[in-house]
Amino acid sequence: MARLGVDYYPEQWPRARWEQDADLMAEAGISIVRIAEFAWSELEPSPGTFAFDWLDEAIDLLAARGLAIVLGTPTAAPPAWLVEAHPEILPRRADRRLHGFGHRRHYCPNQPAMHAATRRIVAALGEHYGKDERIEAWQIDNELMGRCTCDACLARFHDWLRGRYGSIDALNESWGTVFWSQRYDDFAQVPLPELGQVPPYGFGREAPSPSLALDYRRFTSDSHIAFLRLQVGELRPRIGPQQRITTNLMGFKFAEIDYHALSAEIDVVAWDNYPLLDPTGRWSSPALAADAMRGLKRAPFWVLEQQTGAVGWEVLRTPRRGQMRLHSYQAIAHGAELVSYFRWRTARFGTEQHWYGVLDAHGRPGRRYHELAELGRELEQVAGALDGAEPVSVAALLHDYDSRFALQIQPTNPSLGYEETVQRHYEAVRRLGVGVDVLAPTAPLSEYRLVVAPNLYVVDEALAAALHGYVEAGGTLVLAPRAGVKDRCNVVPELPFPALLAGLAGVEVVDVASVLDADPVQFAGVDGGPDGAFHGWYEQVEPAADARALAIYEDGEFAETPAIVSHPVGDGRVLYVAGAADQATLDRLYRAVAPEAGIAVAELPDGVECIQLRGAETLLVLLNHADEERDVPLDGGRRDLLAGVDHDRSIRLAPFGVAVLAPVRAAIGAEK
Ligand code: GAL
Ligand code: ZN
Repeated sequence: MARLGVDYYPEQWPRARWEQDADLMAEAGISIVRIAEFAWSELEPSPGTFAFDWLDEAIDLLAARGLAIVLGTPTAAPPAWLVEAHPEILPRRADRRLHGFGHRRHYCPNQPAMHAATRRIVAALGEHYGKDERIEAWQIDNELMGRCTCDACLARFHDWLRGRYGSIDALNESWGTVFWSQRYDDFAQVPLPELGQVPPYGFGREAPSPSLALDYRRFTSDSHIAFLRLQVGELRPRIGPQQRITTNLMGFKFAEIDYHALSAEIDVVAWDNYPLLDPTGRWSSPALAADAMRGLKRAPFWVLEQQTGAVGWEVLRTPRRGQMRLHSYQAIAHGAELVSYFRWRTARFGTEQHWYGVLDAHGRPGRRYHELAELGRELEQVAGALDGAEPVSVAALLHDYDSRFALQIQPTNPSLGYEETVQRHYEAVRRLGVGVDVLAPTAPLSEYRLVVAPNLYVVDEALAAALHGYVEAGGTLVLAPRAGVKDRCNVVPELPFPALLAGLAGVEVVDVASVLDADPVQFAGVDGGPDGAFHGWYEQVEPAADARALAIYEDGEFAETPAIVSHPVGDGRVLYVAGAADQATLDRLYRAVAPEAGIAVAELPDGVECIQLRGAETLLVLLNHADEERDVPLDGGRRDLLAGVDHDRSIRLAPFGVAVLAPVRAAIGAEK
């Protein structure tokens, strides 16, 4: 059963209060506490002098009430004495501004002095707590992120390039440095790119080589991963085998670190879930994040920070009543084994005074505390059924960091935004009640009936071959515009787009149109294809002899040419969508395509999410994200395990309501 936890900062409260906190947690059914991830100055008040007594005491009190501990390494907040002795650890951001003391994350992951101080505190914590059975896991640092352009980073970048290219000639060749006289004689001449802000769709004053910029992105990602690895290296030999190592990632939206690469270094994937941080508030946003996190190891994950109350540092946004529970069920249904609420008690001081926790700053149990306790009781009720149940996914969505980084560097057209495009395709499939695994393009795909690749901008031969194999064996692949536009060095291949994928897609792009603030261009479905519209980005494609149009442009420059093309390959087929499609268009497209791929689809009212889980029995979790009642049709009798009521033809969900339904006879969504 999913366990509930809280993020607790005993160092921010008087000792006299700790016992009461621990009692209240235990009474609310909390079973795990994350602790100490910013407490460096309290754990090591001066260089090499450790003060673990307070943490021992806090852990004693918590553990005495059966609470397990996730212990943070405190490196996200280097203390003043360290910055004073080694000001060089402060990171220089991409615009060359120094990120000073007084906030957090004020360190460069490549600075030797930071490494030494990190090794010392992490080793000391490992020595002290590594064999402590009450510690269940370690959280390394906190939300690794941040770019740095300091001299240590520059030197490391040169080493990194040497490792990747071997010789400067190979780099020159791969990057095309003949352009603008950028040929290097030595790795030492390569600069770090100026990457303040990508100017919105104009010519940047500082427009670095796209190849240099992409490698800098990769290098930044690798630098954080190396810093994580350094800490794992200190912990691993000191900890018992029952202690797991993780770090709190940031879901799907965050795009500075290749989480596919990072997740190989940790034992369990964990992330922070703040649904209200998406200003659109759409339900598919935390759903996509959860599926992306589950896809990293194709395994259940932990949520180490779950939104509780209002979010915001300066300006607040409050969840509606019922949303804390709803978002918790959403996380659990998508694969969370642990949901830990940020934070136990609202801070009285510091930057996050207005980031509301389970308790208010005054410390008396109120509405959120009681809701959490109620949720714990409910979860116990459905524990038997939910135990070991995992989401059923017949579709996969490919998420590729190289493509994402490269598109950040050259956004091309606002309608092609990586995150937004992925989100729209994902939502269109999920609206059908179909489960989606969000995976690296290198993941094995044969078990999926449908593979969606909304943004495969960077492609190499191995990937093209793997996708070919998938389709040939019977899979359905959806490709969208700008597939295959770059190679791994961010250089354009000498082939018509989608270049290495052209044979598979059965199209060649013969012309493109990029329009800002465009009116939609309509297209009409043929042969069962969907009607729809593109906005901003349009391609004119020439289909191969064995391909056929599923839709034809009705107006615009490419009127009467194909807007969507279907290409049979072996036992499967590829769809190529030749423009930036809006949500309604994608909804219609997948509603047409999924059944043809052998996937059963559901009719779900607006705002209702349906997740199918397979455990001891097959369950449906229905989540009403709307603030109005919704009637959901059922295709057979089901029992709502939460309400303990049977339903025949349909179920009425309250605003923000949840139902866990068993058993399922004719399942919504096909079996894998
Ligand atoms: C997270 C972070 C927490 C806290 C929270 C609310 O990103 O890990 O430490 O800052 O946001 O702001
Ligand atoms: Zn640096």
